[in-house]
Amino acid sequence: MLSVSGDEPTPQQMWIDERRRHALARFDDRIPALYRETIDLPQAAADWADGTPGAPASLFLTGNIGVGKTHTAWHTARRWLDRQYRHGRPGSPTVQTWRSTQLFDALRPEGDNPRAVTHAAQTCGLLYLDDLAAARVSPTGWTQERLYEIFDERYTSQLPVLITCDVLPAKLADIVGDRVASRLAEMCRGGIHLMRGADRRLAGAA
Ligand SMILES: Nc1ncnc2c1ncn2[C@@H]1O[C@H](COP(=O)(O)OP(=O)(O)OP(=O)(O)O)[C@@H](O)[C@H]1O
Ligand SMILES: [Mg+2]
Repeated sequence: MLSVSGDEPTPQQMWIDERRRHALARFDDRIPALYRETIDLPQAAADWADGTPGAPASLFLTGNIGVGKTHTAWHTARRWLDRQYRHGRPGSPTVQTWRSTQLFDALRPEGDNPRAVTHAAQTCGLLYLDDLAAARVSPTGWTQERLYEIFDERYTSQLPVLITCDVLPAKLADIVGDRVASRLAEMCRGGIHLMRGADRRLAGAA
């Protein structure tokens, strides 16, 4: 949307750019310091964030401990947000980020407001769940039910999720329940990206 002369952005374009810069700055503030450094993204993650034709609906980053899943996911989510603004999506795209253990806690009946947490996770533009198998123990039936509500709503509304996890969706049923695992498998079809390599933490210690 350039002006008649072709070299000046229009006021509307400047306003959109300003909103985008503001949203990205707020997102950057949420990235833990450890993960702020810009990194090269795997092609699969970049394609997903960019909405490249043929890219999957959701992205599931898997791989061994310390390979870089969480760092990659933060910057993939940032790139996703950037694209939403660049493509002039209506409204203000939102990204919710949760460590899965914290989400499971927040969804418990005695949590602050599990209904509000559920609703926000159901409706945000992108839900990024880090380390989905971290707990290694099944949340309670009540929590699994809330998790089901979240995934069922996102599945039905075709809203994306970005997951990091060191086990594959097919192995997640014990943790998230059969119905969530089933939906996840479909949402992430074609979008399971295995990150290979050594534990970067150990490399740093060498
Ligand atoms: N592409 C990268 N380039 C440089 N450093 C990286 C890169 N990816 C991750 N790191 C660094 O490697 C370390 C481990 O990364 P990260 O925490 O993302 O791993 P992880 O796969 O999520 O591990 P875990 O399975 O234990 O959750 C961190 O210090 C992170 O900043
Ligand atoms: Mg991690």
